[in-house]
Amino acid sequence: MWLPVRRARFLGTLIFAFRPALWSRRACALLPLALWAGSLSMLGQAVPGQAVAPATTVTQTRSSPTGIADPRLNARVESLLHSMTLDEKIGQLVQYSAGQATGPGTGRTDYEDMIAKGQIGALLNVVDTPLINKYQRIAVEKSRLHIPLLFGLDVIHGYRTEFPIPLGMASTWDPSLVEKASHVAALEASAIGIRWTFSPMVDIARDARWGRIQEGAGEDSYLGSAMAAAYVRGYQGPHLDAPDSIAACAKHFVGYGAAEAGRDYNTTEISEHTLREFYLPPFHAAVNAGAATLMSAFNSLNGVPASANSFTLTQVLRKEWGFEGLVVSDWSSIGELVAHGIAADDATAARKALLAGVDMDMASSLYHDHLAQLVASGAVPEANIDESVRRVLRVKFALGLFEHPYADERHAQQAFFLPESLQLAQTIAERSFVLLNNTPGAAGKPLLPISKDVKTVAVIGPLADNPSDPEGLAVSSEPKSGALSFPAELARRLGESNVLRSTGVGVLKGSDEGIAAAVATAKRADLAILTLGESPAMSGEAASRSNLGLPGRQQELLEAVINTGKPVVLILFSGRPLTVPWAFEHVPAVLAAWLPGTEAGPALARTLFGECNPSGKLVLSWPRSVGQEPLYYNALSTGRPPGNADLTRPAIDANSKYVSRYLDEQNTPQFPFGYGGSYTTFAYGPTAISPVQLSAGELNQGLSGKAGTRELLTADAMVSNTGSRAGDEFVQLYVRLQGTSTAQPVRALKGFQRVALAPGETKKVTFHLTPDSFAIWNDRNQFAVEPAKVTVWIAPDSVSGSEAKFEILP
Ligand code: BGC
Repeated sequence: MWLPVRRARFLGTLIFAFRPALWSRRACALLPLALWAGSLSMLGQAVPGQAVAPATTVTQTRSSPTGIADPRLNARVESLLHSMTLDEKIGQLVQYSAGQATGPGTGRTDYEDMIAKGQIGALLNVVDTPLINKYQRIAVEKSRLHIPLLFGLDVIHGYRTEFPIPLGMASTWDPSLVEKASHVAALEASAIGIRWTFSPMVDIARDARWGRIQEGAGEDSYLGSAMAAAYVRGYQGPHLDAPDSIAACAKHFVGYGAAEAGRDYNTTEISEHTLREFYLPPFHAAVNAGAATLMSAFNSLNGVPASANSFTLTQVLRKEWGFEGLVVSDWSSIGELVAHGIAADDATAARKALLAGVDMDMASSLYHDHLAQLVASGAVPEANIDESVRRVLRVKFALGLFEHPYADERHAQQAFFLPESLQLAQTIAERSFVLLNNTPGAAGKPLLPISKDVKTVAVIGPLADNPSDPEGLAVSSEPKSGALSFPAELARRLGESNVLRSTGVGVLKGSDEGIAAAVATAKRADLAILTLGESPAMSGEAASRSNLGLPGRQQELLEAVINTGKPVVLILFSGRPLTVPWAFEHVPAVLAAWLPGTEAGPALARTLFGECNPSGKLVLSWPRSVGQEPLYYNALSTGRPPGNADLTRPAIDANSKYVSRYLDEQNTPQFPFGYGGSYTTFAYGPTAISPVQLSAGELNQGLSGKAGTRELLTADAMVSNTGSRAGDEFVQLYVRLQGTSTAQPVRALKGFQRVALAPGETKKVTFHLTPDSFAIWNDRNQFAVEPAKVTVWIAPDSVSGSEAKFEILP
């Protein structure tokens, strides 16, 4: 449940009137000086047009020893654990929401008393710093063992400075930007006393009906892994105990994004093969990047709910990956084991969750209510409780909470809306936009960037700005940040009288009169800019949709404005791809803007006027119709693929009857994964690979975790800017393996790089592939490289590019 973050900001503004100073001496000394300076220099690199390091590999290295894996923590953890009573141990495993409830509540309100008795280990949703400090003071000064509380919150895409939603951030294809944004989020959230964010959501999502697709990095596990690691690095920084670091929480472990029919909280069925190759890798990347915590999911996975699933929580996470941090349940997901039907009562639910590997109970209160009795009866060994307590204490020690438990109320505001943070939010918003259509209009020129001849624009639609709706702030701007809304930004450029406004219709409702007024407004302008789509509340948790078209009467509005004959630019705001085939056919310029955050206004205006050139690329396959869902590019080939998906035989006629297809819809997406337009054009030369033969044995020696050569294969292609503007291109590398023991995707992303090209410029783009690029989950249930015929593409998206072949010999 993440919506309260935005609402919390308003509370946040109130609390700074009261400022009892409580930050520890160490933090106070650091905060205004080195800490901020360091943070700012990090952010300072993210200026428009400046090169960002290419991202071709997903980090596999563990975090620095100052994180949760630091062996120096062991002695402290053990010594404290030995002084704890059973009740105090259980207290560390208990978390409640002491702010706005973000799910079915527990009904408890006696937190102060419980904290004093050591019965609570963590709180969430408290955003009032004096209250945070008040609770903390009770824990530190009144509880017998003085163990500090851990305060958590859903800080999903920034705290006060809002970045685009994670789907938008992923559309930048730039993990270094995501890392910087997460660092800003950590800076702002830690300033008010939040040291734990329930982010990143690293669930692979292949179905746009699922509302939470907006909270993740899309459908691909390679890109998702790169983003997962970047979030963790940004939140946690090089030292988890720095006052501006917050613990990351990779969620929702695991399979939540595969909810059947895209309906939130629904059942998932995922084969081990699919789990290992697609759903688990982003979590593994987060763990390898040092994530301090993970969250167990709501869904049942192959019949066993994820919050009681010992295969995923213990076998994979602890035994195979060596994860040493803590696992928190999702909101009341332990209590929900009863509704799932795998526990006949609450006590059994608590037992099953704990024994499976869930260390902390978020909000269901079942650990508090039942663990002591379960230990007394022998149903739960105390050793299991001890193990979970160790993990909680480890995170608290690693965060330095024992040394600096309090937030500095005097300095908290200094962290908000720093100029560098806002600049970064603008840069990321600009790079998150995906140009879907920009076809030449009647004058033979694309509509975008907007020509200097355009003097008057009509801004039409419900989503241009929406200051009265707090949720609308994700679309327009946060007043406190000082950023102008999109229409205000246009007015600043064109003059107030040249920006005509008409809402036309609401997001969900509208009238004939409203549409008529919008048409009249469009007729008075040189260009109409339509701002249509979903309000922020239409995606996210508990916001699944079965229709993915424009809601309400927006389609009618769009058609009416197009019928005026005026040139139209459509900005689509949404937390998912929308099925609007009519728009893609009739509107010459369409920009997917997602929900761009605080700097939406300037970022959109700069993009439309060509001061920056769109470089965002889709991180999901954009469907033509909802019936295609789940739709994803890296599907396994069927035995009867229409077209030439086989690659080794002649293409099968796409219209023949007995092939895998619909009678009434194409198989292909409206826009493929990886696609995104630009104001310039790029051309790709042939893909070259060296060497053209490798041995499976040699590759297996070099798999991560083993000694051996890491980079064994080089692939390159010349990429040219064939247009007249400078532009950035995200060059992608895909592979396909044929002849392996398990079927493999028709294409799988294995590398990507950003290349900045001046008009007419050509650069050689080189990828160095490691053996991991060719490892598969095989029919013996292990990762290995197998002999195969391999096709490699260096491409602008997941359906084009020139191919090269090589062979992996036995
Ligand atoms: C969501 C989690 C979130 C938690 C706390 C749950 O409903 O699924 O993603 O972290 O609430 O707000």
